[in-house]
Amino acid sequence: MHFDILTLFPDIFEGVFNESIVKRAREAGLVSIALHNIRDYATDKHRITDDTPYGGGGGMIMKPEPIFRTVEAVLGLEEGQQPEVPVILLSPQGRLFTQSVARELSKHRRLVLICGHYEGVDERVRQFLATDEISIGDYVLTGGEIPAMVIVDAVTRLVPGVLGDPGATFEDSHAEGLLEYPHYTRPAVFRGWPVPEVLLSGHHAEIVRWRRQQALRRTFERRPDLLAKARLSQADREFLQHLVEGEVTICQ
Ligand SMILES: C[S@@+](CC[C@H](N)C(=O)[O-])C[C@H]1O[C@@H](n2cnc3c(N)ncnc32)[C@H](O)[C@@H]1O
Repeated sequence: MHFDILTLFPDIFEGVFNESIVKRAREAGLVSIALHNIRDYATDKHRITDDTPYGGGGGMIMKPEPIFRTVEAVLGLEEGQQPEVPVILLSPQGRLFTQSVARELSKHRRLVLICGHYEGVDERVRQFLATDEISIGDYVLTGGEIPAMVIVDAVTRLVPGVLGDPGATFEDSHAEGLLEYPHYTRPAVFRGWPVPEVLLSGHHAEIVRWRRQQALRRTFERRPDLLAKARLSQADREFLQHLVEGEVTICQ
């Protein structure tokens, strides 16, 4: 997977992409990231990338030309030529980024991410250049750099080979529409709080059943809205019905 990130502030990415799993994925050649400074593609003497809004009002708007020129140079496109890979504009007005969008994006070989800043980006970038527009949540950040990091991080861990255990992502919260079950590690008793006995039993089937029920219970208690879209078996439905009726007793 290759990410091209267009930004006015490439230094912001330094720490996040040079630590932990993203760093290892880059070193292993599973992921590559290129940061492109939009300012390098401004044509005027002062390399101006923003201007005041037509119609008045506060704030500065990122000019279209440097952004178009950066995307065209990075993808080797002629003016007006359609890109063959997703060109994603980060925007609080875009479709919401979820685990299933991350999985969808992870199927591509290359993604272009455009980070807006200031009051936003000239509308023609959205209309005539971007092929997708993504928001990481219903709030407004100062720029698209943190959203780009979020997308790179979430997509990278879905790239085959990045995580040691390839099955790990299938049990993650949101992967199958449920929140994940709780985790414990040594010691078995910490300050008098014991790990649930079933996890020490070595009984694999019982552990699987307990984890599934914990995932269902957590989702029911914290995010019942997710259950409508989750993939549920008959046993899951029966367990949830017991929860609804307040009849359930499972060890915590
Ligand atoms: C201050 S915001 C502009 C917000 C714009 N005035 C509006 O109300 O829609 C500047 C830039 O930050 C990025 N941004 C801010 N919040 C975001 C979010 N929730 N998701 C994705 N990008 C976001 C976008 O790239 C945006 O162009």
